Amino acid sequence: MSLLRHLLSATALGVVASTGAAAPPAIPGYAHGAATLAPAPYTVADLAALQKALLFTEADVQALRRSKPILEGQTDAILDVWYGFVAATPELLVFFTDTRTGKPDGEYLAAVRRRFARWILNTADARYDQAWLDWQYEIGLRHHRAKKNQTDGAHSSALVNYRYLSALTIPVTTTLKPFLARQGATPEQVEAMHAAWVKSVLMQTILWSYPYVRDGDF
Ligand code: HEM
Repeated sequence: MSLLRHLLSATALGVVASTGAAAPPAIPGYAHGAATLAPAPYTVADLAALQKALLFTEADVQALRRSKPILEGQTDAILDVWYGFVAATPELLVFFTDTRTGKPDGEYLAAVRRRFARWILNTADARYDQAWLDWQYEIGLRHHRAKKNQTDGAHSSALVNYRYLSALTIPVTTTLKPFLARQGATPEQVEAMHAAWVKSVLMQTILWSYPYVRDGDF
């Protein structure tokens, strides 16, 4: 498929080639920690309660931290797999389609991909403070009709339907597992990192659900 070839091309990949550098490059639209972000409608105490419900513990925080140096040099390869999955799934690709042409918007895909690479590393070393929560809220808004397309000036679908957000926890973390195993971690360590990733991705999609849930019901 030509879109897949585009996504795997050197041009599409070159933009994230410096992942892991000491001073990360500025990524358009990446706003974690920016003063301009709206404050999240949930607090660090709300997050602690949610983590309890997810059985997300300090051991998971440590397992995620251990995954960072393992994943750091592999973000391009991971994104090839994830983008390959989206490109091969018409029900998902529609959310990146330009509604004016009916074709996938390659620039939109590439712009989101740059931020996605940073998200992988930020999931591994998240501080779970209010700034991280504000950024989670923003990511939710960007999937929702409140802010989708705005960051990249795209002309795509008005929103990503919520049901797919939590669903993607499974392909995202299942396909991540072989990458966690690639740098000599023991099978037990790989299991622990994988379990922590499943919990963290599910936790994030729950935080992203806020604008989709009826007022007061989150
Ligand atoms: C586990 C589930 C998911 C994860 C971890 C995830 C992750 C991300 C990340 C990190 C971004 C970039 C946020 C930013 O920095 O601006 C993003 C944006 C985006 N994602 Fe997802 N996503 C998930 C589910 C989905 C699904 C199911 C779709 C449907 C194809 C989707 C489509 C998009 C689109 C279209 C954008 C760009 C939104 C915009 O216009 O700003 N995502 N996603």
